[in-house]
Amino acid sequence: MGYPGRMQGGFYHSRLQHPGAVLAPMAGYSDAPMRQLASEQGALWTVSEMISARGLVLGGDTENLTLGRPFDGETNRVVQLFGADPDILAQATRQVQDWFHPAAIDLNMGCPVPKVRGKGGACLLQTPETAFELIRAMKSATPLDVSAKIRLGWDHDRSVEVAQGLAAAGVNLITVHGRTSAQRYTGEADWDAIARVAAAVDVPVVGSGDVTSVAAARARKVTGVATVMIGRGAVGNPWLFRALATGADTDDLPPAPERARTALRHAELQERFYDDDTGRLTLRPLRKVLPKYLPDHPELRDALVQVTTVQDVREVLAPLLAGTGDLAAPTPPGAQAAV
Ligand SMILES: Cc1cc2nc3c(=O)[nH]c(=O)nc-3n(C[C@H](O)[C@H](O)[C@H](O)COP(=O)(O)O)c2cc1C
Repeated sequence: MGYPGRMQGGFYHSRLQHPGAVLAPMAGYSDAPMRQLASEQGALWTVSEMISARGLVLGGDTENLTLGRPFDGETNRVVQLFGADPDILAQATRQVQDWFHPAAIDLNMGCPVPKVRGKGGACLLQTPETAFELIRAMKSATPLDVSAKIRLGWDHDRSVEVAQGLAAAGVNLITVHGRTSAQRYTGEADWDAIARVAAAVDVPVVGSGDVTSVAAARARKVTGVATVMIGRGAVGNPWLFRALATGADTDDLPPAPERARTALRHAELQERFYDDDTGRLTLRPLRKVLPKYLPDHPELRDALVQVTTVQDVREVLAPLLAGTGDLAAPTPPGAQAAV
């Protein structure tokens, strides 16, 4: 069916006039620093980590919540909410709009983790009528585009039926991760199922699952989706967005010194964004990310997963940052050289 004629003029419609791909919401990853690097490389839009609607409305969350706060000058950022109560979602939508100034707001209907199940997430795939009500409540609370991100179903594929209901409820865009909730992240994403959804609704459909290269993105786009979303494949590789935005036909990574500089910059952005004067060690969450920038330098891994400060990162990457690429075995941060 495609989506012409629907949603002209909204955020998603206008971004989809450009080539490129979307950075997926990923709890523990798609924070402000990762979003900044992806958007600098041309991501069409980025999606925040999921945020509890209940926490925003009934908890102690404020506009300083780091999950929601944009980086300075951030644009094209979608904030994702999870929840199951229409009144709370409506109120959270208003709060997100006022506090975090997103370009659009997304409803999480795919998260399979028990903490979220029962409070929304993939549970909504078992009771889609609730999700349709949530979308109507969110739409009535904001003039911004409202989207939903679904999996194929709870334990079997009912994505066409769910997507048609969401479209009827007024959703502006649907992202489909081509797995059921029961599958979690096992097996391969089913892009035939995603294509069936894209053909069945008159809103844009974004496909998600296992896009890790330019070739994979191109292959997926023939399924009739408006564009593709990239999650795990973008960790340590923001250049994938550049290639897809410019039409480059290569998965070649930049030279190692440039990747090392970007890894260091990621650490610097992390320190700056999370700097809250509490003296917290803020680079721990990056330990799983930094080695992904340098898959061809496995000798750096042990040191990179032990960093705690930007200076540690600078020291570990020093040989690459100097552009020599000539690496001696690195000393883990904090280790004293034997004298
Ligand atoms: C660590 C991790 C965290 C995720 N967190 C979220 C989330 O907060 N909200 C959401 O809708 N999807 C979340 N996802 C799902 C991704 O957005 C994406 O749909 C999925 O990983 C498949 O895409 P990929 O193969 O490109 O990673 C998460 C995935 C991973 C791996």
